Amino acid sequence: MIDRQNLQAFHPFTRLRSLLEDLEPGPAPLGASEPLALSIGEPKGQPPAFVAEEIAANAAGWSGYPPARGTPAFLEACRGWLERRYDIAPGILDPQRHILALPGTREGLFFATMATVPQQRDENGAPPVVLIPSPFYHVYAGAAVSAGAEPVFLPTSSETGFLPDYQSVPEEILERTALCILCSPSNPQGAAANRWQLADLLTLARKNGFVVAFDECYAEIYTRTPPAGALDVVDQLGGSLDNLLVFHSLSKRSNAAGLRCGFAAGDEKLITALNALLLVGGAGVPRPILAAATRLWQDDGHVEDIRAFYRQNFEIAQEVLGNRFGFSIPDGGFFLWLDVGDGEAAAKKLWQEAGIRVLPGAYMSVADSEGYNPGAKYVRIALVFDAEVTKAALGRIAEIL
Ligand SMILES: Cc1ncc(COP(=O)(O)O)c(C=O)c1O
Repeated sequence: MIDRQNLQAFHPFTRLRSLLEDLEPGPAPLGASEPLALSIGEPKGQPPAFVAEEIAANAAGWSGYPPARGTPAFLEACRGWLERRYDIAPGILDPQRHILALPGTREGLFFATMATVPQQRDENGAPPVVLIPSPFYHVYAGAAVSAGAEPVFLPTSSETGFLPDYQSVPEEILERTALCILCSPSNPQGAAANRWQLADLLTLARKNGFVVAFDECYAEIYTRTPPAGALDVVDQLGGSLDNLLVFHSLSKRSNAAGLRCGFAAGDEKLITALNALLLVGGAGVPRPILAAATRLWQDDGHVEDIRAFYRQNFEIAQEVLGNRFGFSIPDGGFFLWLDVGDGEAAAKKLWQEAGIRVLPGAYMSVADSEGYNPGAKYVRIALVFDAEVTKAALGRIAEIL
């Protein structure tokens, strides 16, 4: 049971801190004086230099409140990128009606959950349901319980291609479902859903009257071909955006997690409802930031370099790990999801012997009613440092485990 009055206790990094707090870290790789945090998925590279230039050039905008939905130029840049990146017919996305600036996908997903979960219980007194893959980004479950919904976790594993099996969700749950959140490419496993899987999910949502929030914040960090996104299947399902919201972000795409800028796109009714909530409780995106973000969404060149950086780190992982710990290069993202038998024990050992912090998979997922936790065997390792550090750290990890 996740307690909305005590979300801190459920936070993966709180749990990691209490796991390691009484243990002395061992000597870190490459003789570094500080332990090495491979637990946090935070880019270490910088955004392009033009970000600082745009912010400075638009400094007059700091005195005003952020515009309600984003500037027309920003919304147009988002539309342009979506139409370059996805196979969606021009004319379907109207920037003014179907796109909304967000101070990050985290905030967007949280408020979208508030906007889509009804306040009422059903005639049997049962709460609305939010379907969440397990393991998952902790915000999904935090948002679900904050909205008064019951989070229903759909376990994923190597056997399911690390994606939830929506066809096996019981009818009784589907009837109560208000929202389904799918992360593709997924954090932590880097698995991407294909067009058929995305179309099947959207069809199921329309049939049962629930909303799907597609968290596509890793859409640009891929290792081989660009992963499909929900907008790729809109045309084949009749060209409607009903029941659909996609979430995108500059945090990973442009090494700009601190900029706090993303956007949502999709169903006009949902965008309007999300905007209404953000106008009550959201910070908005300031004009100078929107100016920089407009340039970032217009430019794909810098993303090539960022993608190449993570691709090189995955190649290093392949060299060092081979096929041990169930490793193979994933579709996208920048995490290793290694089967180490017991993720908590491995996290303690890596900390004590090599000053390396990794996240036990159990802290990203929850146990089912029989006590089975699909993340328990795993650790998540963020490949965000440069090639030299990555190689040294993975070498130590392989030695120790
Ligand atoms: C799966 C997933 N979704 C959303 C986010 C939030 O990203 P942001 O709010 O920076 O766009 C993260 C960040 O780590 C993430 O891993």
